[in-house]
Amino acid sequence: MKLLVTGGAGFIGSNFIRYVLREHADDRVVNLDKLTYAGNPANLADIQRDPRYAFVQGDICDAALVRETLRGVDAVVNFAAESHVDRSLVEPDGFLRTDVFGVFTLLEAVRECRIPRLLHISTDEVYGSVAHGSSAEQDPLRPSNPYSASKAGGDLLALSYWRTHGVPVVITRSSNNFGPYQYPEKVVPLFITNAIDDQPLPLYGDGRNVRDWLYVLDNCAAIDLVLRRGRDGEVYNIGGGHEVENVVLTHEILRLTGKPETLIRRVTDRPGHDRRYSVDSTKVGQLGWAPRHPFAAALETTVRWYREHESWWRPLKSGEFRAWYERQYANR
Ligand code: NAD
Ligand code: TYD
Repeated sequence: MKLLVTGGAGFIGSNFIRYVLREHADDRVVNLDKLTYAGNPANLADIQRDPRYAFVQGDICDAALVRETLRGVDAVVNFAAESHVDRSLVEPDGFLRTDVFGVFTLLEAVRECRIPRLLHISTDEVYGSVAHGSSAEQDPLRPSNPYSASKAGGDLLALSYWRTHGVPVVITRSSNNFGPYQYPEKVVPLFITNAIDDQPLPLYGDGRNVRDWLYVLDNCAAIDLVLRRGRDGEVYNIGGGHEVENVVLTHEILRLTGKPETLIRRVTDRPGHDRRYSVDSTKVGQLGWAPRHPFAAALETTVRWYREHESWWRPLKSGEFRAWYERQYANR
């Protein structure tokens, strides 16, 4: 297959491109990425000379460019998004632009160019907070913040293009990912790198919010399976099956980095903070997927990766990130 991967210079997209080129020797990948603050060519430094890989810098909202990059493509996998909830609370514009209008632009282009498949990458956050049980694919969407509301908008638009125009879309909704190459604004890499530097770990609220952690390579395997075996017009949840309170996760990171609990700093909660996410992954399980990386071992691997790749994350934690961190956490 020739794939157009959008947002492939980000965290999950770069892991996915590496996964595809390793698992499918005959596949080719074009990576269309705007290179926002979260996009980083260094995430794919090891494959940039692979003849099966090509990079195009550009915006998924640019209809002419999208049509051009679609030439000869068998499937599109859309990872491109503004992805950080906290940023969506203070700068929502870019979320609406990329996560809604960008999806619309891709849908129109895929429709016009008659591309056989568009896999849209979404999130468990579109279901909103789940007090009991787990969200199934047909459950109503109750997003709580501008990030999840924008993602829900993209999902609904994609499904509407399937129903009205027969555009062959499939959607995955995964739980929280962690692993190598995650931009250090998200809780796992933020807390690991802060701990390495003996900096405080800012834990929101009472620290008892629950996330279902999924190792990024398990997500890549599920996405690849849905891409090749999923049914048009369907949504597939992908959960890690490992629900943890943030405070427990934080203690685990401190243990693995060998740092004291005194580094934990309780800070004001995030407005509209969803208490718990949980998805039912039965449907993707029926395609033959199950997570293969147990949480404890995967977190240990991740901590080791950040220890061994300081040259990757240290530059990211200066510049744009430092300004964001000051604004976000200084008076909290
Ligand atoms: P990320 O922020 O690390 O990467 C996003 C990438 O998209 C970056 O490379 C960025 O440059 C690119 N991008 C942003 N706007 C663009 C635009 N207009 N045109 C082209 N490229 C653009 O995000 P991530 O964590 O890798 O998430 C990837 C996808 O997975 C997103 O759609 C996100 O909603 C979804 N998701 C993420 C998680 C998670 O835990 N990280 C969980 C569930 C779903
Ligand atoms: P995050 O990594 O931002 O992912 P999401 O909000 O998409 O789930 O946050 C994961 C959890 O960690 C969430 O409950 C908020 C919490 N959190 C903190 O306690 N402190 C932080 O500095 C950050 C970034 C997140």
